[in-house]
Amino acid sequence: MEYSLKSFEEYFAQSEVIRMNHYHVDGRLKHVMLSHQFSIQLLEELFDIADRVKEMTRKTNGIEFLKSLLGHKKAMLYFTQPSTRTFLSFLTACQMVGMDTGEVRDPSLSSEYKGESQEDGVRVFSSYFDIIIMRDPKPGFCEYMAYLLDNTGRSVPILNGGSGKDQHPTQALLDLYTIHRSFQQKDGIRKKRYAFVGDLLRGRAVRSSVMLLSQYKDIEMDFVAPSSFQIAEDLEKILHNQGVKINKTDKLESVLSKVDCIYMTRIQDEYDLTGESNNIDYSQFSLTTENVKKMKPSSIILHPLPRRNEISPNVDADPRAMYWRQLRNGVYIRAALLLYVFNVAHRLDEY
Ligand code: NCD
Repeated sequence: MEYSLKSFEEYFAQSEVIRMNHYHVDGRLKHVMLSHQFSIQLLEELFDIADRVKEMTRKTNGIEFLKSLLGHKKAMLYFTQPSTRTFLSFLTACQMVGMDTGEVRDPSLSSEYKGESQEDGVRVFSSYFDIIIMRDPKPGFCEYMAYLLDNTGRSVPILNGGSGKDQHPTQALLDLYTIHRSFQQKDGIRKKRYAFVGDLLRGRAVRSSVMLLSQYKDIEMDFVAPSSFQIAEDLEKILHNQGVKINKTDKLESVLSKVDCIYMTRIQDEYDLTGESNNIDYSQFSLTTENVKKMKPSSIILHPLPRRNEISPNVDADPRAMYWRQLRNGVYIRAALLLYVFNVAHRLDEY
């Protein structure tokens, strides 16, 4: 798509650090665009809210109380790129805190079919809804929408549910929430060694989680990928500047016994331009019941899902396999985020 507004081009040409300032209002986060908008302090606050939400959903009166918190708010789910988990997880989170929802998933069934621009469509949503949760294949598109709305005088928060190869901030939240819960008795997220495996160049979940994790100074990261899909240069530079100790390799075996957490990813071949994924032997970047035996007993296995063959279904029964729990955690942390964005989390104390 052509970004039509010259002023947006100027806006987007500014550094991320400057753009990030626009997503906070009165010291609070308004638009959720980039994973590293979350400070460690805010993360811990959200983890605490999510824990309480999770606990409350175990009891009928807790479920009812949660539903009363945002019964007066409506959310628009605008997902123009395929999604199962993120869409359903946000939908479930909205329902959990009592929000009504609307959705557009197939633009051919909306007025976009009649030639309406996405910009005008999003302005319509902001007139009917109190928050827009969106996924789009174009990097930066959510930021563009947030910028546009902020300049229309009728702005509502936008949550980025995945923007191209670029960012997936709420995936990073649920990844770190799962790590936090898994290592609660062992210094939490800190003082750990993390391996990211697979298509690290084009996986936005990896990018967002690495950025968020990099705020913790006392961790190490291993990047295990075919050389053509290693982490992007800019990300490596950021990690270097932040003083995070990193190691790049294409040998999964070399890290298995050393890491505390292994984050598996699928090949993102929907972004192939010339079939560049075809020649990769992905079995070299896969977990089987055989090679997981080399992992530490206390380690954990994560995956944002969907998976292909990079984790054998036989590994699912291993107590270290956290990916099904990880997707359930996504609902609680997204519900926590909604409570935070609408500034009602303090009301949990009334329960
Ligand atoms: C991820 C995504 O969409 O980036 N999936 C998800 O949201 N759980 C990872 C992927 O598609 O590989």
